[in-house]
Amino acid sequence: MAFSIRTRLTFWYTTLLFVSLLAFGAIFSYSLLKIFIYRIDNQIISIADMMIHTVIRPSGQIFIPRDFDIMLERYFGVRTAGSYIQVLEPHGAVIAKSSSLEGFSITVPPPTYRAAIEGATTYEVVKTVGKYPLRVVTKPIILDGRLIAIVQVGSSFEGMDEIFHLLAYILLPGILACVVVAGAVGWFLARKALRPVAEITDTARKITAENLDERIRADVPQDEIGRLAATMNEMIERLEKSFQQIRQFTGDASHELKTPLTILKGEIEMALRSKDDVQYMKEVLSSSLEEIDRMSYIVKSLLDLAKMDVEKGALAREPVRLDKVLADRHEHFKRLAFDSAVQLDILENRPVTVLGDQVRLSQLIYNLIDNAIKYTPSGGKVELQLGQDGQTAIFRVKDTGVGISPEDLPYIFDRFYRVDKARTREVGGAGLGLSICKEIAEAHGGTLNAESVPGKGSTFTASLPAA
Ligand SMILES: Nc1ncnc2c1ncn2[C@@H]1O[C@H](COP(=O)(O)OP(=O)(O)OP(=O)(O)O)[C@@H](O)[C@H]1O
Ligand SMILES: [Mg+2]
Repeated sequence: MAFSIRTRLTFWYTTLLFVSLLAFGAIFSYSLLKIFIYRIDNQIISIADMMIHTVIRPSGQIFIPRDFDIMLERYFGVRTAGSYIQVLEPHGAVIAKSSSLEGFSITVPPPTYRAAIEGATTYEVVKTVGKYPLRVVTKPIILDGRLIAIVQVGSSFEGMDEIFHLLAYILLPGILACVVVAGAVGWFLARKALRPVAEITDTARKITAENLDERIRADVPQDEIGRLAATMNEMIERLEKSFQQIRQFTGDASHELKTPLTILKGEIEMALRSKDDVQYMKEVLSSSLEEIDRMSYIVKSLLDLAKMDVEKGALAREPVRLDKVLADRHEHFKRLAFDSAVQLDILENRPVTVLGDQVRLSQLIYNLIDNAIKYTPSGGKVELQLGQDGQTAIFRVKDTGVGISPEDLPYIFDRFYRVDKARTREVGGAGLGLSICKEIAEAHGGTLNAESVPGKGSTFTASLPAA
């Protein structure tokens, strides 16, 4: 089951808080315990030291007064309740002990006893018959390398126990209360922070291809969610643009195909009505053929464009000698240029190799030269140039033709865009040549640019990465 972000956020947040507060409480209690034990150890060792000074005679004998307790009180002011003192002889038998040890004695675990024999002092916690364990120091009295007695001083954990119980009573409910309050506040804050997400979801759900002009409300805060909303708005805008382009393109394409079809239909109907006029029928047929050619050209161009859209990234990558392609195309256009009385020259044809699709690159060069000749009146000049600049192959077509106005220049690479609709119709253009060129250049990782001065001429430059 998937929980909402809000639930998960609050859950992790409170869990983390709970665990850290518990850890804090534990570390705090542990440190407190350590400090207590440190202080107790200091106390019991100083009592043990005083004891040793008191019970040892200058002769090296151990002297234990009869009324041990009274002595303890007199000498140390020790309140013996809670402080447990006993003196042992070297073999471990008890010589004397405080009355607080009435009825039992402090046990000496074997390792402690062994340590004492070797002269080492041991601190440890010892269980007793009483309710509380004892913190005990066991210190040997050694004279001239000989163990003469063992002194043990113990202090009960009694008071401390109470403190720790109290601490637990305060800490645990405190921690729980903190967690509950923080959880409630966190739950509320999470809802507040996530509210814009709900709004974004609502809007996104409403948007379909039909109302791509809808946008997510802009008044969400400019944080991560605000950026998400802005990004989604940008995405919707791009979608809207592409949808619009597709609609426009479909409309243009149908229109371009409809015109020759209408002409065809009209001409054929006329021919049918003219009965036996063979000459007229021949004229109609040849004119029909032209319209059919035109339609084939449009359909083929559309197919090319569609193919390139699909192929994107999966283009053939074979070495293509661009100079050879150019020489070939130049040969092809010589006749047309001559017929149009346009001078067609190659200024430079440097051997350059480009990795790509031979057919497409040839098409790119073809379309550019075709345009240059088509849009250059007789007596004009078209110059072709293939050079290399570093790692870039540069193909340039320069003409002295009609040129393109600055208002039209940004659109000439759009599909079906023609500057002069009426004139180009006779020339036969569909307005697809340059958009195909641009796609080809970009598919090869290159660019296609145009510069033009109306009335003076145009220059088209294709830059392609050289192999
Ligand atoms: N060298 C040029 N000189 C002047 N105008 C040009 C030149 N090349 C292109 N244009 C303008 O840009 C428009 C778009 O060119 P594009 O090659 O895409 O279409 P087309 O030549 O009209 O048709 P198609 O190439 O599909 O037969 C042309 O209609 C023309 O107005
Ligand atoms: Mg063209």
